Amino acid sequence: MATPYLPAADRYERPALYRRCGRSGVKLPLISLGLWHNFGDVDVFATGRAIVRRAFDLGITHFDLANNYGPPPGSAEENFGKLLHLDLAAHRDELIISTKAGYSMWQGPYGDWGSRKYLLASLDQSLRRMGLDYVDIFYSHRPDPETPLEETMGALAHAVRSGKALYVGLSNYRPADTARAAQMLRELGTPCLIHQPRYSMLDRWIEPQLLDVLAQEGIGCIPFSPLAQGLLTDRYLAGIPADARAGKPHGFLKAAGITPTILTKIEKLNALAQARGQSLAQMALAWVLRDPRVTTALIGASKVSQLENNLVALSNLNFVPAELVQIDAILA
Ligand SMILES: NC(=O)c1ccc[n+]([C@@H]2O[C@H](COP(=O)([O-])OP(=O)(O)OC[C@H]3O[C@@H](n4cnc5c(N)ncnc54)[C@H](OP(=O)(O)O)[C@@H]3O)[C@@H](O)[C@H]2O)c1
Repeated sequence: MATPYLPAADRYERPALYRRCGRSGVKLPLISLGLWHNFGDVDVFATGRAIVRRAFDLGITHFDLANNYGPPPGSAEENFGKLLHLDLAAHRDELIISTKAGYSMWQGPYGDWGSRKYLLASLDQSLRRMGLDYVDIFYSHRPDPETPLEETMGALAHAVRSGKALYVGLSNYRPADTARAAQMLRELGTPCLIHQPRYSMLDRWIEPQLLDVLAQEGIGCIPFSPLAQGLLTDRYLAGIPADARAGKPHGFLKAAGITPTILTKIEKLNALAQARGQSLAQMALAWVLRDPRVTTALIGASKVSQLENNLVALSNLNFVPAELVQIDAILA
């Protein structure tokens, strides 16, 4: 019989690993793990399992999913459910597990976007796939221009009142809609815990307004793809490896997106990271976390070694002003 997994006894010995999520009672690890890629049925279960185990051993308590993660859609939740059952069943109360609904999930008019019909049915399906009674955070995955915001927020609030989610979150909402949604959720008695936007050195759209809205509303921020899906690492400095996201047919990073202009920037950033004594991935994570309004950086990993390398970022989160100026100049 296989030896049961025993989590590292020292996993909580770094209190500085956790940052408060907005004005809530919840703290999240500075680095959280997302299961968008590398956990589907197309991937190797044992690798995903090793990554989650190692993450938990290193103090990572937050795992982020969505109904459609795979491929095929739903399989990341199924596989996560399996490994929870195998390894972490005794540790459910130590985990913050999130899922989302908002992108296309099943056929017909009720399997996409932001209706109450879709969100609540999807949450039930997610809970079944993961074998859970509740998730910690349930997100509206994207704003729906055709469904009244009141309906979508009402569905999130209902998820909490029915005991199927503890907190609610928004993902990909623009600043004005975020502020309106936050007001509605407060009135419904289920304040918005967290916002999940895309944010990295290569995509800075949240800087001018969204971060201010989040601070005002007391909402935490969990940027996704802080490594720009692997671009902000050493992965593509010498071509496209066959096992890299951009080399896989189902990967969301397309080879065509790795242009000479981007590669030039990455090479310059890589040199700067080396001068700081960091890998490029570590510098990219430290850069996202330099703003205290950012609660946690939501990374992906295809190997245990990537996860370990990324966690080392936390030993140097500081930038001298000249470095930030240099980064701005490279990105300009
Ligand atoms: N709300 C939304 O709309 C939304 C959208 C996208 C993502 N997300 C969430 O955000 C999570 C993270 O997204 P992401 O996977 O794009 O994040 P990311 O951290 O920007 O990219 C992860 C990829 O970077 C590479 N990588 C990571 N660490 C590395 C290292 N130390 N050295 C070299 N390469 C490294 C790996 O690529 P290889 O696979 O090539 O090895 C890994 O799969 C997702 O899992 C999901 O939970 C949410």
